Amino acid sequence: MNKTLELRLERAIEVAKKAGDFALSKRKDQDFHISEKATNDFVTSVDKETEELIYNELHGFYKSDGFYGEESKEEFGTGRWVVDPIDGTTNYFRGQPSWAVSIAYEIEFNKPLLGVIYSPCLNEMFYALKGYGAYRNGEKIQASNIENINYAINVCVPPHRLKEKYDTYMKIYNQIGVASSDIRSLGSCAIELSYIACGFIDGYYELNLGYYDFAAGKIILEEAGGKFSVLNSEKELNNNRFDILATNGKLHSWFENIIL
Ligand code: IPD
Ligand code: CA
Ligand code: CA
Repeated sequence: MNKTLELRLERAIEVAKKAGDFALSKRKDQDFHISEKATNDFVTSVDKETEELIYNELHGFYKSDGFYGEESKEEFGTGRWVVDPIDGTTNYFRGQPSWAVSIAYEIEFNKPLLGVIYSPCLNEMFYALKGYGAYRNGEKIQASNIENINYAINVCVPPHRLKEKYDTYMKIYNQIGVASSDIRSLGSCAIELSYIACGFIDGYYELNLGYYDFAAGKIILEEAGGKFSVLNSEKELNNNRFDILATNGKLHSWFENIIL
């Protein structure tokens, strides 16, 4: 096992726990204010404070690592941390439990080497190290074996920030809904990916995500035997928004046939 990566994983788990517990205590004390970054895209003061905490904790240890966080910082280094301090901000400030701290580390873009997702309200810590499997609260996890779409529970998130794409998306949504057992939407990409990794759900299709939304979830899912794809063409990727498909692996081609 690569010792430096293993140590980074251990550190990232500690930092995610500290950051998530910090955000949760702020939530309990109602100690935050909310602003709107763009239509339907919110940030709270705690998102920013939590990102600062994560930055200080990781940077304190790994001074030459780069950092890419949703709320402020981008610093370049040999490798970099990719951080979403609170994934599921709307759930966070509305009082719903599905939100999580998400931390990945990578040397090459879109090839995360480790990922940690901590959901303090649900008391779930997911993590993975490339080549060594994925874990939930210390137990090894595996994506589901469901091959028949009729039995699949899927996450489909209509494009709440790109309403002009709603009609097209809903045509696909309908086909997925009619074919499968049920459709859910949990409001946190990180938790949704983690839930495919541990077999709670089977497929997930969403448009227009940021890289920080899914970097940690991607490696956790892949290490659990699932499959993750970015669906955009090279040209479309210029604006750093990503349409994603994630599945237990077995259902990937079924979704591709519907979507592409
Ligand atoms: C959001 C969550 C949500 C997804 C949004 C994301 P945020 O992240 O992942 O599930 O539907 O598109 O932006 O803004 O809460 O960090
Ligand atoms: Ca996010
Ligand atoms: Ca966020």
